[in-house]
Amino acid sequence: MRIDILTLFTDMCNAVLCESIIGRAREAGKVQICTRDIRDYTADKHRRVDDKPYGGGMGMVMQAEPIYACYNALCEELGTKPHLIYMTPQGKTLTQERVKELAKLDNIAILCGHYEGIDERVIEELQPEEISIGDYVLTGGELPALILADSVSRMLPGVLSDDSCFEEESHYNSLLEYPQYTHPAEWNGRTVPDVLLSGHHANVEKWRREQSLLRTKERRPDLLKNADLTENDKSFLSSLEPK
Ligand code: ADE
Repeated sequence: MRIDILTLFTDMCNAVLCESIIGRAREAGKVQICTRDIRDYTADKHRRVDDKPYGGGMGMVMQAEPIYACYNALCEELGTKPHLIYMTPQGKTLTQERVKELAKLDNIAILCGHYEGIDERVIEELQPEEISIGDYVLTGGELPALILADSVSRMLPGVLSDDSCFEEESHYNSLLEYPQYTHPAEWNGRTVPDVLLSGHHANVEKWRREQSLLRTKERRPDLLKNADLTENDKSFLSSLEPK
């Protein structure tokens, strides 16, 4: 898969993308993530890409043409039109389900807005999918774009060390993950649950499943309606109900 981030802050994106798991995955060719400077596509001699909003008001608005030219140049270079996503607090909130769908695509391009937004006409023209990372507002789309690129990349084959590990993690099956422990067995007077030291694989699995169900019920009961629950899960959950 190839992800292109269209931004005014390529250095900010590149600094994050060369680190840790995503940095290694890019080096190993498991995912291609490129950044493209929207400012390279302005005709303005001062390289300006923003202007005052019509109708007055605070701040500056990103102009349509540099964004349009930047996306078109990318399409021409790739020889295809990548699925375009615009990061905005006005978009649909990102979910793990949407992340999984996006990870099936060959090419995505992520547009980062800045200032007070972007000229509405380029949104009408390009019709991007609008995605928000949550109900709070950031100074720009770069951090949201990096979150999206990270969450999509880690679903690709070979990016995580063991492909099975995301099948157990929080949100993958609409359940939160069970608690984890590592050495030492006692720390600050706190011990590890006995069952995890027992070596009894079936009991460990049962305990972990129950912990996932318990956590989800306590912290995110809204997730349970989409979870794939067995009869055992359901009877465990109903055993938690007050008698
Ligand atoms: N840009 C600014 N805030 C944002 C958010 N919450 N999600 C996506 N893009 C944004």
